Amino acid sequence: MPMFTEDRLRAVTALIVRRMGSDAEETALVADHLVRANLAGHDSHGVGMLPAYVRLLQDGLLVPNQEPETVLDFGALLVLDARRGYGQHMAAESVRRAIERARQTGACVLGMRNSSHIGRVGTYGEQAVAAGMAFIGYVNVADHHDIAAPWGCAEARLGTNPFVTAVPGADGPVLLDMATTTIAAGKARVARNKGVPVPDGCLIDAAGHPTNDPTPFIDDHIGALTAFGRHKGSGLAVMCEIMAGAVAGGQRAGEPNKGGILNSLFAVVIDLARIGGDAAQVLVGVEATKAHIRSSAVAPGFEAILLPGEPERRSAAARRAGGIPVDDRTWEQIREAAGKLGITEAELERANA
Ligand SMILES: NC(=O)c1ccc[n+]([C@@H]2O[C@H](COP(=O)([O-])OP(=O)(O)OC[C@H]3O[C@@H](n4cnc5c(N)ncnc54)[C@H](O)[C@@H]3O)[C@@H](O)[C@H]2O)c1
Repeated sequence: MPMFTEDRLRAVTALIVRRMGSDAEETALVADHLVRANLAGHDSHGVGMLPAYVRLLQDGLLVPNQEPETVLDFGALLVLDARRGYGQHMAAESVRRAIERARQTGACVLGMRNSSHIGRVGTYGEQAVAAGMAFIGYVNVADHHDIAAPWGCAEARLGTNPFVTAVPGADGPVLLDMATTTIAAGKARVARNKGVPVPDGCLIDAAGHPTNDPTPFIDDHIGALTAFGRHKGSGLAVMCEIMAGAVAGGQRAGEPNKGGILNSLFAVVIDLARIGGDAAQVLVGVEATKAHIRSSAVAPGFEAILLPGEPERRSAAARRAGGIPVDDRTWEQIREAAGKLGITEAELERANA
């Protein structure tokens, strides 16, 4: 399995993104986002997305160098239309504007509609936390076909609809960043590429029965991912769809579209210096809560008590030290995608040298 240092993987990714037509700034942003997703251990949202992005570009469903268009700018409310722009750029720019607004008004309610795939949503939570803000995000995924079955459904009716909440912590953000399906769709893709089954309870087949085989789902869109957490997780998935779609005005699941992956985001960005009076005091409270949780005995079968965001930081430390693995099939798909852009093997090797 190919192993990459962070810098080399970023250089290979940047070569491909630049050749897709992004300017230097957008290229750096997208490459950094994808490599950081791999570092965090979320290979499903890392450089393995590049072949899909090249397909979207060539089908006219992903637009490089876009700027989000203002739909509504009213006090603390900001609604932007990303018009299929490169998601990593569209979401980062929308959150940047929401942070700027929250500094003036104490909080900003952001709707960002119709972006191409925004990747690892936790990245935008980290962006807000770095600016002294808390972040709550509901995201929907409108695709040309639904892939997730809500509680009680034998058929897919939603996307994997991620939910994020982030606040600062002394050793990095407390960052809950999760698909509302039992596993993210990209994890089924990674399993299919590695030729391994998905865990029990993640997937149903065409008749609604449980299955562990990701191949029909990935190759032929047969079956559906299950919502996590029974009726409660399914309810959160439904609310992600409604807040990002019906409320923020993004493309809704089931609405006819031109295809491709569209993400819309409903987010609340809160200035902790205002709501807490003093951001340092909020941090004291966060740390006290973490310490209280960690004061518990570790449950049988667990190695440690981890808080949201910690597994990703552990993964990043391990991968910075030991390298980032990219499985053979994914690397092959990336090379094929690069080839479609006219990038030669020699160019790829130079970027990876
Ligand atoms: N853009 C999109 O359309 C889209 C759609 C779905 C998912 N995603 C992304 O996919 C990524 C993966 O999502 P996922 O649901 O597979 O994540 P996951 O199940 O690996 O982790 C979910 C959350 O649980 C926490 N966690 C994990 N193990 C833990 C443990 N042992 N103890 C305590 N907390 C723990 C993590 O820190 C994380 O906050 C996310 O970054 C998400 O934003 C994006």
